[in-house]
Amino acid sequence: MPELSECSGYRYLRDSAYDRETIRHIRRPAIEQVDTFKRYPDAETIKLPTDWTLKEARITPLLQKRRSLRKYENESVSIEELAFMLWASQGITASSGNYTFRTAPSGGALYPIETYFSANHVEDLNPGLYHFDVENFSIDRLTTTDSAEAVAAACLNQKFMAQAAVSFLWSAVIRRSMSKYGNRGMRYILLDAGHICQNLVIAAEATGNGACPIAAFYDDEVNALLGLDPEEETVLYAAAVGKRVAPKKQCSL
Ligand SMILES: Cc1cc2nc3c(=O)[nH]c(=O)nc-3n(C[C@H](O)[C@H](O)[C@H](O)COP(=O)(O)O)c2cc1C
Repeated sequence: MPELSECSGYRYLRDSAYDRETIRHIRRPAIEQVDTFKRYPDAETIKLPTDWTLKEARITPLLQKRRSLRKYENESVSIEELAFMLWASQGITASSGNYTFRTAPSGGALYPIETYFSANHVEDLNPGLYHFDVENFSIDRLTTTDSAEAVAAACLNQKFMAQAAVSFLWSAVIRRSMSKYGNRGMRYILLDAGHICQNLVIAAEATGNGACPIAAFYDDEVNALLGLDPEEETVLYAAAVGKRVAPKKQCSL
């Protein structure tokens, strides 16, 4: 297997990065679109039941309610809510020998994804960039200045990233998976990031917050904000989280 920088999985990641200069020249590919739904018109159709008792499962309303949320109440999230969301996304839940296992699955239990976040409005937490230390269930403060606007700017100026109480940023330590699986490891890295974000989104719903996943960002700008060496570790995914806007109160005459 060639060194990391010569692997096609790694090159793909670098070649598909956005930056401010080239993003203006990106054109839609000349690839014809296909239907969102696959249909088997000649196959026998069996309607699925919808009157399940499983509706009582506690996850059902969270899944039903989940919608990408880009507008937030001007309210902070508590440190407990933040801790719960971090635990739900990457918390350690078991160990065996040298391995630890987490809330989200990971290809080969190699856990290539690192969690960072910009605390914009978190009670009892100074604004700035933080890293989630999974092993010690603690957070490392990386910067001491407000990072909300810089993160939003690096995410193609998506303003709601700055309005969010917390903006999460996930990076991949590429070697963790590719040193074992080579190019196939890139698949595992991308899949791991999806699992983690989905856990976060559900945990956000469970705490009265809403989330929006983000994959449009200037890769190396985010890497620079986080102090990452893009040859080794690069941002892959992000999510904005904030308090759901309360439904308007009904007025009676
Ligand atoms: C991989 C991925 C990347 C996304 N990136 C962005 C983004 O950069 N900005 C944004 O506003 N929404 C982003 N979204 C949210 C989608 O627009 C949203 O999931 C879609 O419109 C469906 O709406 P729903 O999530 O409310 O069901 C992303 C979603 C996914 C899964």
